[in-house]
Amino acid sequence: MNTLTLSASFEVLRSHLIDGQVQSALERMRPDDLSPGEVLVRNLHAGVNYKDCLSILGKAKIISDFPRVAGIEAVGTVIESSSPSFHPGETVLVHGHETGIRFDGGFAEILRVPAAHLQQVPPGLTPLECAVLGVPAFTAAMALERFEELGLTRESGPVAVSGASGAVGTMAIAILAKAGYEVAAITRNLAHAPVLQSLGATEVIDAAVLDQPQRALEKARFAAAIDNVGGPMLSWLMRSMQDSGAIAVIGNAAGNTFEGSGLPFFMRRLQMFGVNANAPWPQRQCLWERLGSTWKPDMEKLTPHVHHISLNQLMDYAGQQLRGNTSGRTLVSFQGRRS
Ligand SMILES: NC(=O)c1ccc[n+]([C@@H]2O[C@H](COP(=O)([O-])OP(=O)(O)OC[C@H]3O[C@@H](n4cnc5c(N)ncnc54)[C@H](OP(=O)(O)O)[C@@H]3O)[C@@H](O)[C@H]2O)c1
Repeated sequence: MNTLTLSASFEVLRSHLIDGQVQSALERMRPDDLSPGEVLVRNLHAGVNYKDCLSILGKAKIISDFPRVAGIEAVGTVIESSSPSFHPGETVLVHGHETGIRFDGGFAEILRVPAAHLQQVPPGLTPLECAVLGVPAFTAAMALERFEELGLTRESGPVAVSGASGAVGTMAIAILAKAGYEVAAITRNLAHAPVLQSLGATEVIDAAVLDQPQRALEKARFAAAIDNVGGPMLSWLMRSMQDSGAIAVIGNAAGNTFEGSGLPFFMRRLQMFGVNANAPWPQRQCLWERLGSTWKPDMEKLTPHVHHISLNQLMDYAGQQLRGNTSGRTLVSFQGRRS
């Protein structure tokens, strides 16, 4: 890969492994210090994902080699490119492809990205809209695509979304509502109910339902479910699906493990699948095209639930997010919140 020439230093949040502990701090770097890539990008927005919070605080082994600039996604403007596919001034998106894991990622004013990892901001989206949607919306879209392949229609019944007030939950509700589905939002915090309804939830369920006596099979109420939480929530969803209902297993905010029995599978033909947002290219392009058109959520309704922070607020924010004290979608915004 060619070396790019911008020489000024810029601010990053960089993670080091020191005596077995991850330590992340603001530093200054130059492009040549970053992992290799043909395209130099001035960062506009980097989404803050649950995984990024685990990563920079060293709460899970996410980064594969240190030191590393974390941040699994970013939207920015090309400054220099030695790839014929990208040109200065274009706005671009990177997510997955081990960005922030094996390649330096989004928590930096400047990124250097392999062209093979990069795409233009999809048609129908401004750079800011693309950043707002980001990995959470893409993940929800992967779930919806698979539900529809499995036969889900708007007439099938409600789609449950757990961890509803988080980033994936918020996007899932807004996308499902745009696509015409009935949405049952499940949250631990009923104070969020008006927000969830404004995004398109037709029903809001208190996650305290888990505290009630549990039955081998619960009332069959959902045609599909997007589970961002795991643990007892996933167990409850498995027991609460209609015949041939499908669950997309996405997240682990409450834990990696869950209890289950065969009953939902052989009594109700439960279908479960995992989602990994690091999708291959044809699927990425197809889903981003849908997110910019038929599945593009009402961005005005999302805007009040988008929080912009600066790089120096990120460590504190990450702690809050892992404690479950945040809601909506958060971006580290480098050039202001409008572009
Ligand atoms: N598979 C993939 O490719 C993929 C992609 C993106 C994200 N994820 C995963 O999906 C999950 C959600 O991500 P996110 O970005 O939406 O995170 P988030 O913004 O932190 O949202 C998580 C939500 O889960 C609920 N929650 C938090 N802590 C909880 C706990 N201890 N017990 C029960 N519920 C809890 C909260 O919603 P309420 O307050 O409404 O209950 C919270 O807002 C994470 O595990 C993340 O790693 C996976």
